[in-house]
Amino acid sequence: MSILDKFRQLAAARDALIGDGRPPFGAVIEKILSPTEGIMYGRRTILLGTNNYLGLTFDPTCIEMAQAALRDEGTGTTGSRMANGTFSAHADLEHELADFFGRRGTIVFSTGYLANLGMLSAVAGPDDVVLVDADCHASIYDGCRLGSAEVLRFRHNDAGDLEKRLRRLGDRSHRALIVVEGIYSMLGDRAPLADLAAVKERYGAYLLVDEAHSLGVLGQHGRGCAEEAGVETAVDFVVGTFSKSLGTIGGFCASDHPELDLVRYACRPYMFTASPSPSVIASARGALAALRARPELRQRLWDNARALYGRLEALGFELGGAVSPIIAVLMPSADAAIAAWRRLLDGGVYVNLVLPQATPNARPLLRCSVSAAHTPEQIAAVGDAFGAIALPAPHRIGSVIAL
Ligand SMILES: Cc1ncc(COP(=O)(O)O)c(C=O)c1O
Repeated sequence: MSILDKFRQLAAARDALIGDGRPPFGAVIEKILSPTEGIMYGRRTILLGTNNYLGLTFDPTCIEMAQAALRDEGTGTTGSRMANGTFSAHADLEHELADFFGRRGTIVFSTGYLANLGMLSAVAGPDDVVLVDADCHASIYDGCRLGSAEVLRFRHNDAGDLEKRLRRLGDRSHRALIVVEGIYSMLGDRAPLADLAAVKERYGAYLLVDEAHSLGVLGQHGRGCAEEAGVETAVDFVVGTFSKSLGTIGGFCASDHPELDLVRYACRPYMFTASPSPSVIASARGALAALRARPELRQRLWDNARALYGRLEALGFELGGAVSPIIAVLMPSADAAIAAWRRLLDGGVYVNLVLPQATPNARPLLRCSVSAAHTPEQIAAVGDAFGAIALPAPHRIGSVIAL
């Protein structure tokens, strides 16, 4: 037996998925045409499997800002901010994020994954407890693993279950960090933040909200789920990413706690990796400015989300959550999900295939993510492509999918 033998099993699983030569995981977009269209397997395809919520990846101002930074500051920083020095644009972006969230400070990380890894491992120490919603993202669980705190899971979106666990902790509840997401990435459902925040306050715990999928999407000013729920003051740490609504790459944590700045000195995923390239920081700054100045993008995103959700619901598909820019179409089996994914691709629509164990409740699903940049015609075309794989109601036998 060699250390590489374990990959044989993976190879068999991967080969079974490759099927007709179009692997659902790591599908190749041969050419990007716009925020919402690309060429896949030689065919013009509507992209409904991105997280480009505000459609800013081709925003002319962001591109110009990135080009200027590339020209003036070079292609990369070539090191970490602690060891190799910080560019002033990183600090400028931190100030702009702090101002946007109305917080005392912000730390920018190289990705959203590293923001969670860094915050969880640095903030929760050996005598502390992390209470994690069961459906939280892998980066949150990995952050717990990198740290040394005790980790307890509570039932997804269940404030009662959270309260039960906090009660059992007794005095230790003051050393507990509750971790939830604003919008959950697989089903598109939202955290009941008003209830969770009330429990947090009752037990004197701390609350971290990952607004990765809700930044720019929820709240009057786009600050996320906590803004929408009116509980921003109860949130100790706001984590987010630039890789979704801001259309680039990077992550952050904003907080009013003065200790946040000291996290930089105790956080391996901040200290031991290179800081984001100047062009990345510049386009993130441009996108944040666009998010603040153009609320119509959020309006268009929600118009598109409502239109597609309504169409899929009318077709009889079982959908994962309430209306949101993430629309999860639940599938009866993995085979049905893979077949439906391929037929949608044949119909010129690319969505994300998600199979257990990456799905909540072990249900295979097709994850659609809507963008403000989708046109009404594209949303209608996506509806038509789903219509082509749905069986008419009288012929359904436990499933709406025609295989
Ligand atoms: C909830 C959540 N948090 C964090 C991340 C990581 O973000 P990034 O892509 O910036 O590493 C993701 C990415 O999918 C996510 O869904």
